[in-house]
Amino acid sequence: MSAPVVTPPDSVVRTGGAVSFQGVSKVFMDPAKSSHFVAVRDIDLEIPRGRFVSVVGPSGCGKSTLLNMTAGLFAPTTGQVLYNGTKVGTTVNTEVGYITQADNLLPWRTLRGNVLLALEIRGVPKKEREDRARDAIARVGLTGFEDRFPSQLSGGMRKRAGLARTLVYEPETLLMDEPFGALDAMMRATMQADLLHLWERDQRTVIFVTHDLEEAILLADQVVVFGTKPGRIIHTEDVEFERPRDLHEIRRTPEFTAVWERLWRLIEGEM
Ligand SMILES: Nc1ncnc2c1ncn2[C@@H]1O[C@H](COP(=O)(O)OP(=O)(O)OP(=O)(O)O)[C@@H](O)[C@H]1O
Ligand SMILES: [Mg+2]
Repeated sequence: MSAPVVTPPDSVVRTGGAVSFQGVSKVFMDPAKSSHFVAVRDIDLEIPRGRFVSVVGPSGCGKSTLLNMTAGLFAPTTGQVLYNGTKVGTTVNTEVGYITQADNLLPWRTLRGNVLLALEIRGVPKKEREDRARDAIARVGLTGFEDRFPSQLSGGMRKRAGLARTLVYEPETLLMDEPFGALDAMMRATMQADLLHLWERDQRTVIFVTHDLEEAILLADQVVVFGTKPGRIIHTEDVEFERPRDLHEIRRTPEFTAVWERLWRLIEGEM
């Protein structure tokens, strides 16, 4: 049998995947207390293909849980998550690239080795996978560090390595959990602009979890605000700034400040 063919990034026309949460709740068992804990409750959310959605809310309100269910790492307790109309939950959703909150780099592989992994698994020919890895590493500003092991990279560099490792195989949908949290302000602004540029080019669906309300508003078409105890959606806000966006300019507009203040009050009320 021949190796699976992976289309090179430049010729890909992506339209992303549609994600639908229908009456989703997730209950965890606490074995120590033999009690139940409701992580998220009654989540109803429609994310059309190609949309950029940010999720914000206090710590512990279920943001990562939402991504984990979209990736098929575990199933909802009630309700369902649909991906392009198909129920997720019994198998891992291979259409999504998941940049988890922890970087999960393999410590025994170099940066290059980590980025190459997904292409090796998919059987991409050697020359092509090396070109694509080089390109992905350059996109996150890590050229020159290819032979370093994760333990030899800074926290911010490991975050960027995680991004390169996911971007390299061009997933239809990106799930991103605090991807820029450990970056300094300059690198964060660069990565935000790069991410938007990539998104505008490919129109992938993005679900972007962040603690940073400013970042959530600047990047997204829609901001989903979570409340806590139990985790649930308390508000969704459509963000209508024109694309392509100049993030620096938008930040200084009264419209941006008005949205930020309104959402901040909602989040503050939950904390
Ligand atoms: N596998 C699990 N087993 C038991 N409880 C869990 C599990 N995963 C998450 N939880 C609980 O569910 C709740 C939501 O967790 P989750 O990680 O989704 O929060 P979060 O919004 O991502 O928080 P943070 O902003 O701190 O990352 C928390 O109270 C957490 O302790
Ligand atoms: Mg989390």
